[in-house]
Order: sequence, then structure tokens, then C-alpha cells
Amino acid sequence: MTADPTLYRQAWRRFPTGVSVVTTRSPDGAPYATTANALLSVSLDPPLLLLSVATGGNTCDYLRREGCFGVNFLRGDQAEIADFYGRAAPEERRTLPEAHTMHESGVALLDNALVGMVCHIEQQVEAGDHTLFVAAVEHVEVREGGALLFHEGQYGNTG
Ligand SMILES: Cc1cc2nc3c(=O)[nH]c(=O)nc-3n(C[C@H](O)[C@H](O)[C@H](O)COP(=O)(O)O)c2cc1C
Repeated sequence: MTADPTLYRQAWRRFPTGVSVVTTRSPDGAPYATTANALLSVSLDPPLLLLSVATGGNTCDYLRREGCFGVNFLRGDQAEIADFYGRAAPEERRTLPEAHTMHESGVALLDNALVGMVCHIEQQVEAGDHTLFVAAVEHVEVREGGALLFHEGQYGNTG
């Protein structure tokens, strides 16, 4: 017995999350960014996180190729960035928002995000139509401010 996929999708629309932009690189070295909310902290010591990405998409292919990525938790006023990197065509995702800094590992972090993290992939697990990337967090930047939220297909903020 398997739950109805439409109902299952509707169920998760009712689960509020934060929103991140994941940054990696295209095979030609250009940046590539995508909006992601399927993220969780796996371990504190050592720091490990999990990112779930649709298998077969560019993001999944590029993460596998690069072996590292950046996670940027967005601020309450960055819904436009989330919307852009959640919908834009692949060629448009190759341009990052103006203010970003290239970490020495080659991962780009957004200067004005609430949190920036540089992650190195340690494990990959195929799960249904997604791939789970378990990654060691090598560098963390934390700033003050409210967070962007996603719920029922709408953006909100923590105020
Ligand atoms: C709020 C929001 C959250 C998203 N979270 C994820 C996610 O966690 N994993 C994922 O694979 N795609 C997620 N997406 C879809 C991607 O941003 C993107 O549209 C898709 O992965 C693009 O495919 P590509 O990897 O071929 O570029 C999300 C989109 C939105 C708007």
C-alpha cells in the first residue's frame, strides 16, 4: 500500500521550512545556484548536514562532479532570490547575486545571507527520485536577522 502522491505532496506543503540557496559549479567552472529547503542537520560533532536533491537534474549532477557545495540560509527579505533560483532556466542559474565571496575551496557564499556554510560531500544515498547528500561542514558564517520561511507555496518571514 502506497500513499497517494498528490496527497503526499499536499501534506508537505503544510510543513513550514526555512529556505536556502545551494551553490556549486557547472562543468565549465561557472557558478550554479538552486533554491533548496530539503535540508537538515545530521550531526553536531562532527558537523554534518543532509541535502536532498532531485536525481537527474543539473544540481545533482554538478554536486556529484564537484564534491562540494555552499549552503546559504536566506533572510526574511530575500524571497526574490529564493523565487529566482527555484524557477530560473539553467543558464540563468549560472549568475549569482552580485554580493558573494569565493571561499578558498571554490565554493561561493552569498555575503548577505543569514548563514553561509561550505560543505564537502561524504556520502550519497539514492532514495526514490532524490539523492541524499551527507556532507561535512568545513566553514560556517552566521549573521543576525530574521529568516525566510516557505509554507503552502508562499514565502514569509520570522519577523
Ligand atoms: C522553496 C523551494 C524549495 C526547493 N527545494 C528543493 C530541494 O530541497 N531539492 C531540490 O532538488 N529542488 C528543490 N527545489 C527546486 C529547485 O530549486 C530547482 O527548481 C530544480 O532543482 C532545478 O533543477 P536543476 O537541478 O536541474 O537545476 C525547490 C524550489 C523551491 C521554490
